[in-house]
Amino acid sequence: MAIVGFIGTGNMGSALARAAAKSERTERLLLSNRTVEKARRLAAELGCEQRSNKELAAVADYLFLAVKPQMLQGLLDEIGPLLAVRRDRFVVVSMVAGKDLRTLHRLLGEQTPVVRIMPNIPVQVGGGVTLLCADGTVLPEERETLRALLAASGMVAELEEHLLDAATGVTGCGPAFAALFVEALADGAVACGLPRKQALAYAAQMMMGTAKLLLETEEHPGALKDRVCSPGGSTIQGVRKLEERAFRAAVTDAVIAAYEKEF
Ligand SMILES: NC(=O)c1ccc[n+]([C@@H]2O[C@H](COP(=O)([O-])OP(=O)(O)OC[C@H]3O[C@@H](n4cnc5c(N)ncnc54)[C@H](OP(=O)(O)O)[C@@H]3O)[C@@H](O)[C@H]2O)c1
Repeated sequence: MAIVGFIGTGNMGSALARAAAKSERTERLLLSNRTVEKARRLAAELGCEQRSNKELAAVADYLFLAVKPQMLQGLLDEIGPLLAVRRDRFVVVSMVAGKDLRTLHRLLGEQTPVVRIMPNIPVQVGGGVTLLCADGTVLPEERETLRALLAASGMVAELEEHLLDAATGVTGCGPAFAALFVEALADGAVACGLPRKQALAYAAQMMMGTAKLLLETEEHPGALKDRVCSPGGSTIQGVRKLEERAFRAAVTDAVIAAYEKEF
């Protein structure tokens, strides 16, 4: 059981705090936010506590930092001295984009156990992917507790930090690419006469179901495609069109372009 604190209850902080509120590992959940009312509202909804940044910094076993990158320095100026005098064990968990473990250590001190996480937008509905990189001082049981705290937000995947940008090209940017695909599928159905609302709902559900099938069966996507394409049928005609328009190459290049933008 752990005392879990979230500094910053915006989009990401509130989504992950909601997940932590569902975890049996959470003994106390503490929320703080610059606009206090926002944290107060969420605390009332989740039945947890709204406190100040400093109170969280003094007591949280897992202290999540969920502020925008440009706000990090100011926040650490405020809470850094409190973290520095703590003698009990605690882990700082940063989701601040672009701040690597080395930078976080420089800002927080070399001795502070630090975990970097990179959630994506679908954590808001429990279908996200949160990438997790821990420094060498974070204990296996602490990483396990973190995975449990975030489990209700979706998949939590540990990886080495040098792979984070490649993975983010899929998990972080992917929701935009997937949304484009859903929209384009719906446009096709609308062009063929289906009302827009139904077209969007069917396309999104189809994407979710296909993703679920691939995850649960671990079937290769190419094999699933082959199963759907009956000889002489309609699906292979659609696949032929997608290949003609270099669909797969375009998607692969989209991920590489996103990865290259990181540097
Ligand atoms: N959104 C994404 O898809 C995504 C994905 C991965 C990582 N991230 C990272 O997650 C972090 C949060 O992003 P977000 O989209 O959740 O941003 P957001 O919605 O703007 O939330 C940031 C929150 O931090 C609060 N805040 C700012 N300074 C503070 C301070 N000194 N003390 C306490 N609270 C403070 C803000 O309060 P106010 O209410 O006063 O503005 C706001 O509620 C960012 O570093 C971002 O890079 C985001």
